[in-house]
Parts: sequence; C-alpha cells; structure tokens
Amino acid sequence: MSDKALHKFDNFLFQKKLISWYLENKRELPWRRTSDPYKVWVSEIMLQQTKVDTVIPYYEKFMDHYPTIHDLAKADEQEVLKDWEGLGYYSRARNLLEAAREVVATYGGEVPQNLKQLGELKGIGSYTKGAISSIAFNQPEPAVDGNVMRVLSRILLIKDNISEQRVKKRFENIVRELICETDPSSFNQGLMELGALVCTPRSPSCLLCPVQEECRAFHAGVQETLPVKQKHKKQKTVAYNVLILRDKEGNIGIEQRPNKGLLANMWQFPMISCHLDVLEKMFYTKHGIEIKREKKIGEVKHVFSHKVWDLTVYEAVIIDAVITDSPLQFVSHMELDRYPFSVSHIKIKEFLSKL
Ligand code: ADE
Repeated sequence: MSDKALHKFDNFLFQKKLISWYLENKRELPWRRTSDPYKVWVSEIMLQQTKVDTVIPYYEKFMDHYPTIHDLAKADEQEVLKDWEGLGYYSRARNLLEAAREVVATYGGEVPQNLKQLGELKGIGSYTKGAISSIAFNQPEPAVDGNVMRVLSRILLIKDNISEQRVKKRFENIVRELICETDPSSFNQGLMELGALVCTPRSPSCLLCPVQEECRAFHAGVQETLPVKQKHKKQKTVAYNVLILRDKEGNIGIEQRPNKGLLANMWQFPMISCHLDVLEKMFYTKHGIEIKREKKIGEVKHVFSHKVWDLTVYEAVIIDAVITDSPLQFVSHMELDRYPFSVSHIKIKEFLSKL
C-alpha cells in the first residue's frame, strides 16, 4: 500500500528535478569517478558519521594502499587501523576488513549483488546495502540515513520521530515508491547531495532548492522545525589519569585496548580512572610495576557520541626495574608512530615532542 504522505505527490516531476539538479551540481568526489562496488563500499563506510572533507584524504590513502578487495583482505588489522587512525569509529575498519576477507573467501572477491548476501556482511546495514546496490549495481534500493530522512521529512511534511527504527523503515518504503528505476544511483545520491548542500540541518537554502515547489514544509514555513528527533541524552563524563611512563632506557609504555568495545584493539598511553592519591597503588595492582608520578603535562578532552573523556596527563617513571607480565609495551619515541592511536591519544603523543 502506498504511504499516505505520497498522496497527490508528483513522483515523476520530483525525480526529474532532483536528478537534473544532481547531475549539474554534484561535487567531484573521488568515489564518484567509479562504480567499482568495493570502492563505493569503502567510501560509504568512511562517510558514516563523518564529513566529506574529512573522508577524502583517508579514502585516497586507503585506495593507494588497498586498490582491490584482495589487497585489503590480505592486510593486517593493525595496519588497517593505522590507516584509519584519526577517522574515528574504528569498528568500521575492523568490520570492513572482516567483510572483505569474507567476500574473498566466499565469493572469489566479487562483492555480491544479492541483497541478502550483501546485508549479511559484517558492518553492512540497510543504508550501506542500499547505497552499494544503487550506486554500484544500479538497483532501485533505498539508501536512507539521517540526512535523507531530514530531506524527505521536509518535502513530505512528515513529523514522525526519525530516531525510531520503525520510522526509518517507513522512509525506506517511501523511497521504494519514489525512486527512479532508470537511474537509482543519481536519485539516491541526489537526495544525499541535496541534504549536504541545500537542505542543511540549520538554515536550509530553500531559495536555491530545485524541489522548492514540491516541498510541503517550505509551503507551510516549518522547514526549520523538521525533522523531529529525540533529544540526545547528555553524555556522561569520565575522568582518567593518563601516564607518559618511561622505563630506565627512556622507552615509553603503551597498552592495547581490549578487542571488544570502545576503540577496540587501538593503542594508548596507560590510563586509570581513580583518585590521584591512589594512582601509584592502582597502577601497581593493575600492571605489577612500581612507578612514581612526576609533573602534570596537560589535559585533553575528547567527546564521543555517547561519552566524554576528561584526560589529565602526567609524566611518570618506573622505580622498580622488574617488569612482570604486564601487557604494557615499552617502545621508543620513533616506534610510537607505528601503532594506531585514537585521536585523544594522538594529542597526548604530540605533548611528547614538547617535553
Ligand atoms: N554521504 C553518504 N554517502 C555519500 C556519497 N556517496 N556522496 C556524498 N556524501 C555522502
């Protein structure tokens, strides 16, 4: 059954205006020079929650290092995380690598066109599945993310809360009805581009919009009140003491994070959440190494989507020469650059050159 929001909506005129505008105004982006499904896939994963300008250099470097899915599948996870360093949401890189290996092992390196098989690959949710399917395989599949929901909620004056899964499903069904069967790639990318360049979250440029006439929110003057979404819960702040800890040779202690959860398998300077008075004791309990804290070096704040880290950084030295089976690794200043660090710890690494 057709969605009630599409009652009296002129599909064909909308498609025509959107696609002509897209073809004339689209940005020249590196992943738009190809329809290689592997490259489209990498770009769509990188673009999740990340701005186009940030993605471009990472995408170019990634394609230099791993020009084909076979090159990626052969790569070591630490090497891939190093190439992803600074881009954030590192599980994207780990999942992409796992899925690339699966495509090589199961499908001989050909990204499957079959939607079920595509959707079963690690890290490919409904948005990415639709984006690859429409952009690389020219299939009329919806690729609905937050930007597309913003655009469509304004055009069709839909006041549902876009934070709800069922509402995303509704928008996917609407796109199935709206999408241009002959050029689904330009249709989906046209919606994304409109969201990025014109129908922006705040102060949309309605006067420049190619589908202003079709936009019900514009006619009602309510474009800035849409989309409706749940307010973010306030992020919790967690305070940590971080140590730049040197051994007798001047090597610096670093630790790898667990292989699950936040920043899985990334490296960092050792960090402990405790009162400063018991830091040495806590460190001994955790690592079996006796240390002495020296001067404070600085502070770093890092905002994740769901929490905030307040890091206070201290210099420290080892006072007990015997290192037990602590998972800390001691490496030279130069060697630090070989390990993938998260953004907050890259900032701490930068303190080192000023010491
Ligand atoms: N955001 C998500 N996918 C995109 C694409 N293919 N081009 C530009 N921005 C995007």
